Amino acid sequence: MIISIANQKGGVAKSTTAINLAAGLAREGYKTLLIDNDPQANTTRVFIHPDIEIEPEKSLYNVIIKFAPLPSVIRETRCDNLSVVPSHIRLSSADLELAQAFDNRSERLKRALDKLQNKYDYVIIDNPPSLGLLAINAFVASEKLLIPVSTGFFALSGLVQLQETVDMVRQTQLNPSLDILGVLCTFTEHTNVSKDVERQLRTYFGNLVFETMIPKNVSLEEAHSNYTHVFDYAPNSAGARAYKALVKEVVAR
Ligand SMILES: Nc1ncnc2c1ncn2[C@@H]1O[C@H](COP(=O)(O)OP(=O)(O)OP(=O)(O)O)[C@@H](O)[C@H]1O
Ligand SMILES: [Mg+2]
Repeated sequence: MIISIANQKGGVAKSTTAINLAAGLAREGYKTLLIDNDPQANTTRVFIHPDIEIEPEKSLYNVIIKFAPLPSVIRETRCDNLSVVPSHIRLSSADLELAQAFDNRSERLKRALDKLQNKYDYVIIDNPPSLGLLAINAFVASEKLLIPVSTGFFALSGLVQLQETVDMVRQTQLNPSLDILGVLCTFTEHTNVSKDVERQLRTYFGNLVFETMIPKNVSLEEAHSNYTHVFDYAPNSAGARAYKALVKEVVAR
């Protein structure tokens, strides 16, 4: 199952969800590959310490731009069952380079993943906060989208645009079967704004909204600054419990 974590809005917990969902699935025994498709490379650095240098040739950049095979850039992590494809800041020029390319510019990640032939139970793709060709490559390669939505003010702006992009990917026959796996409420709080956004999401998306909601929880942020996932950093925190519940729901779907 290939799942893209997507929302072009910044700071809605895409990376936090990619990191902890992938780590949680791996802990349940599923062979998991986490692909960092964001030039910011935040996700990469949770699993590969910043002191370790990553050359662009050993990153997703080489796969997307130079057609390198995925296995040449996959790295094992210290977590059992979890491998990562690191990002690199060079990926920030990839959108432009892809725009000028003629051959399969939307299908490069898909072709690379096809060659892995189900070696992984789950492939989780973390995406940049934009809807450029990098994101399109991820949408074309994915079976499902998981859309985190921060339940703050302005949370719902942008969802229409995301829906249009998904429809475009389907209609152009790039990936007619792309589906939404679920919408995830993040940064939930006991405030009227948070509850109101949750209510609107459930009205609009119905059962697609996960029962699990991810509360605002400082352990989730602290885990990142300690270069690890929340199950390792604070296994009993509200954040860890929520992501554990999300893993269960994702497996069940
Ligand atoms: N539930 C939470 N409670 C508290 N802090 C959180 C929570 N989820 C994420 N954060 C923190 O909020 C910030 C934004 O989260 P994250 O980087 O996962 O969002 P993003 O959608 O990937 O952002 P971008 O669009 O820039 O890629 C990070 O500092 C992260 O550690
Ligand atoms: Mg991110």
